[in-house]
Amino acid sequence: MKRTKIKNLKEKIGDTVKLLGRIDIRRDHGKLIFLDIRDETGKVQVVVLPKPENVHSLADQVRPEWIVSAEGEVKSRPDKMINPDEPLGNIEMELTSLEIISESDTPPFDLSTDGYEVNEEIRMKYRYLDIRRKRIQDNIRTRSSVNNFTRNFLIKKDFIEIETPILTRSTPEGARDYVVPSRIYRGSFYALPQSPQQYKQLLMIGGFERYFQIARCMRDEDTRGDRQPEFTQLDIECSFIDREDVMALVEEMFTKMITELFPNKHMTETPWPRLNHKDIMEKYGSDRPDIRKNPDDPNELGFAWVVDFPLFEKEKSELGYLMPEHHMFTAPRKEDLKKLSDAPEDVISEQVDLTLNGFEIAGGSIRIHEADVQKTVFDLIGFSKKQQEEFSHLLDAFSYGVPPHGGIAVGMDRLLAVLQGESSIREVIAFPKTGEGRDLMMDIPSEIEEGQLNELGLKTERKKKG
Ligand code: AMO
Repeated sequence: MKRTKIKNLKEKIGDTVKLLGRIDIRRDHGKLIFLDIRDETGKVQVVVLPKPENVHSLADQVRPEWIVSAEGEVKSRPDKMINPDEPLGNIEMELTSLEIISESDTPPFDLSTDGYEVNEEIRMKYRYLDIRRKRIQDNIRTRSSVNNFTRNFLIKKDFIEIETPILTRSTPEGARDYVVPSRIYRGSFYALPQSPQQYKQLLMIGGFERYFQIARCMRDEDTRGDRQPEFTQLDIECSFIDREDVMALVEEMFTKMITELFPNKHMTETPWPRLNHKDIMEKYGSDRPDIRKNPDDPNELGFAWVVDFPLFEKEKSELGYLMPEHHMFTAPRKEDLKKLSDAPEDVISEQVDLTLNGFEIAGGSIRIHEADVQKTVFDLIGFSKKQQEEFSHLLDAFSYGVPPHGGIAVGMDRLLAVLQGESSIREVIAFPKTGEGRDLMMDIPSEIEEGQLNELGLKTERKKKG
């Protein structure tokens, strides 16, 4: 018999069907046994009558989380047995045959709750169990829908999806790099991308005018609730656009997405307000203000743009140099170009940030597309000749005709966390790292074999255990 998915049982009343799924709950009423069986589409109650005896005795053995194949007749429940709280609360299946496919140990924690009460280290060690719980299933499935929506939206707008390398050269985005040693070129390293920033600009020089990618980014920085060592950006870059176009694109995309996928949510203000960086720093003391009218309302989404950032941070580096407020490829406002040489601190940039309920969920800018301006910025931030050489590919590329370009990257983990009402982005990532940057399920970071180290020409100083 072919399998019937549980959500389709509604249309199968009177039929004999086969379910493949897990035991959710087993209630023993002596002669009668009730099993709730679930698959990824839903949950249904299965009644086990005293006869046939072999079926009854198998049903007596099964325990929660065991995987079974169950056959039986789908029936309407008598009126007084209907459970209005369950989507399939008006039907049940009368079991005629049962096969145990895979037994399960008792899970180390309850999977039927939302899981917030369980120690996070144990949840992460057994993450493959933890993600069975409904809340995490919903988060991960919603994430897939959001990715799918954005992908379709951008493709319809003539964007093309391009994958960029993971083994690359460092692109400083304000964090430390994760590095990967080369076996062939001993003593040389790849860096994992902190973002595809340089590649997406090089794609514009390469003749692609509208790029996007759902890109994994790696940054070696202290992990927090809204920060992971690896995270996902919806990364976008376009040629021949201005700041307004970038904002309009993202605003249209997410407005449509919320209407379609999150119909219960409402936005504090539409169109999204444009806040001036200087004003909000004075008013809120933060560049990611929470503009919600009623922060206790879980369905309110306070999107706001922040614009007119200074090109450089107020604080100087330890060596007394200016530090880019966004990143070193962000363009100064046209009318401020002249100030770059005499009053760089006063230069306003083409940066845009998007905040949502107090989280920075996207950052972007119009880029510098002239080699001399880029060189001036490198000088202002104190890049040595050697450091500048590391960007020679970009500066060289700038001599082959550069379309004015700009773009943005949305932190998808943060966006999802806010949309799903989660306070940590770990809750919307299938296999996140802990606050200390560890994957407790895989038990990493881990030491590697001596032989592997030798091959790479590496010696390590191991931290003493304990
Ligand atoms: P930025 O560094 O602002 O810009 O990153 C864009 C967005 O990515 C998210 N984000 C993170 N999310 C989780 N964990 C982290 N460690 C983390 N770091 C950043 C934030 C942030 O707004 N290349 C530029 C984009 C551009 O200019 O187009 C960039 O990476 O939501």
